[in-house]
Amino acid sequence: MKKTYAIFIMGVSGSGKTTVGKLLAEKMQIPFFDGDDYHPETNRRKMASGRPLNDDDRRGWLETLNKLAREQLHSASCVIACSALKISYRDLLQKDIAAHTKFVFLKGSYEQVMARMLARDAHFMPASLLTSQFDTLEYPTEALVADIAKEPEQIVSEIMETLTHKTEFGLIGLGVMGKSLCRNLAGHGFRISMYNRHVPGKEEHVASGFKSGFPELEDALPFDKLKAFVNSLQVPRKIMLMVPAGKPTDHILEELLPLLSENDVIIDGGNSHYTDTGRRGELLSRHGISFVGCGVSGGEEGALNGPSLMPGGEKAAYRIVRPFLEAIAAKDGNGQPCCTYIGPEGSGHFVKMVHNGIEYAEMQLLAEVYFSFKHTGKTPDRIAGILESWKTAENSFLLEITADILRTREGDHWLIDRILDQAGNKGTGNWTTIASAQLGIPATMIASSLFARYISAFKADRKAMERVYGQASTPPETDEKTVFEAYRAARLINHYQGFRLIKEASDTFGWDLNLSALARTWTNGCIIRSALMERLPGILKSGDNILLHPEIAPSIKTWRSSLAGFVAACVKSGIPVPVFSEAVNFFHGFSSAHLPASLIQAQRDYFGAHTYRRNDDGGEKIHHTHWKKTKGS
Ligand code: 6PG
Repeated sequence: MKKTYAIFIMGVSGSGKTTVGKLLAEKMQIPFFDGDDYHPETNRRKMASGRPLNDDDRRGWLETLNKLAREQLHSASCVIACSALKISYRDLLQKDIAAHTKFVFLKGSYEQVMARMLARDAHFMPASLLTSQFDTLEYPTEALVADIAKEPEQIVSEIMETLTHKTEFGLIGLGVMGKSLCRNLAGHGFRISMYNRHVPGKEEHVASGFKSGFPELEDALPFDKLKAFVNSLQVPRKIMLMVPAGKPTDHILEELLPLLSENDVIIDGGNSHYTDTGRRGELLSRHGISFVGCGVSGGEEGALNGPSLMPGGEKAAYRIVRPFLEAIAAKDGNGQPCCTYIGPEGSGHFVKMVHNGIEYAEMQLLAEVYFSFKHTGKTPDRIAGILESWKTAENSFLLEITADILRTREGDHWLIDRILDQAGNKGTGNWTTIASAQLGIPATMIASSLFARYISAFKADRKAMERVYGQASTPPETDEKTVFEAYRAARLINHYQGFRLIKEASDTFGWDLNLSALARTWTNGCIIRSALMERLPGILKSGDNILLHPEIAPSIKTWRSSLAGFVAACVKSGIPVPVFSEAVNFFHGFSSAHLPASLIQAQRDYFGAHTYRRNDDGGEKIHHTHWKKTKGS
């Protein structure tokens, strides 16, 4: 055990914490501290008088023990005996040192413990308080469990065996993302087990081969047999799946299930569909296994150096894996992890899905900007220069990489000019579009960016059409300032639509999501991190509609004519700008108190007697007109 740990031996009074703790410390040659020695006199007197301690009595004492553990951890591991009966107590004990804390729960029945208490002498805690101890105990699903029926020597050797030879965290699926996350975890000092399936001739010895390539994986255990992998982990097990979404995820869960124990926690870090995550969570919970559906953003580099993480599912399960996820996540501007509990069920994967939808639109906006500049005869280098000049006011990860891409040369030409113009996709933009339609939210820019990719895929048709209709495009009559303002306005609208979709899902599914906290986790590590995203946590605190926020509205007012002007110029020139067009059309519609939907209602009523409401009677009553009869009258 190279890493240092504060090992809290916990359990009700009389379960043998001091005996086991002392012996463990002695065997491990590390200091032992008895938590009872740190009670203030007031607490000791209260207990001695037969009155149980309450949360307020315990707070200061737990903080003292946390401070003690933190100080000890600077130099070495230590063992501390402390009842730590409630979740909130354990959270106080491990505050800021969760990744370095282990709880060992001495588990015994009331009768077993009572028999021991009656047998021991000169302890300030009378046996009569035992009932209150059991009443207070919130079962520590996160703890290593030791059976107090066993001899202390045996308990201690089992604890040592677990701490020394079993690993803390397991990862399944050593693709690009899985490998990077393994290195990130190991780099943060976690002892991990790594599993990749064995497919003869295709995937052989993947885990061991991977381990040998990286010094930080020296202590990591590689496996290609699932049972051995599962058995190598400390219980309760924490296992992260990094396998393709869909069937492969169901398949590995099926294989895993019989090998797991109650209270183990499985994290799905793939881009799974949120309804699948909800279904899997329910299935696993029937077996006493917890499931965390965790959005992971940042690509290979993010996974290695700090991704943005969006964990959803049972909050109690998140608590158990939180130290690992927070340690490996990117850090925001205040040094806080870009990882926060999102909400129940599949909410973590839902927000990751919308993240990708926003990402699609952000990418397409930049593609449309590039294309319009290209039509004015600018070289990729020149366009990169313009994008770089935008960074001061409107920086984003995607803007930066786009400029890099445009500057990339291959011999005497730019690489971008040699890349086939057919965009792929892995499905999350499609899912976001479907979800927006199902939830009734006009996330038009996301939908349009998806369809722009689909249009691009029809290369042969496009060529045939161009042969018939000719290349319509001419240089658009616009300037850099207009394009920039249009881009800035469109980004705000895209972010509005994305967050509005998340808000709707939260309300519909009863998830109670915190949009401001979510935006904070997207300020670093993820693909849509940007200077704008850094403003959103504050803006979203004061309301969900960012377009009405006093910090945003004046900008939109200034830029909206450029947005319309840019789209008009491109449309006139025959340059496709579908996502910019959606931005301006959405904005025009969404900021109009009057729309032609009155005619839609009339048409519906005409052919289908679907009825309509009137604007001159309060809009409460339903009306129907016999249109043919009343025509012209
Ligand atoms: C991220 C990315 C990541 C992946 C997308 C690509 O946040 O790290 O979004 O999840 O790059 O799945 O999606 P498409 O292949 O559909 O563009």
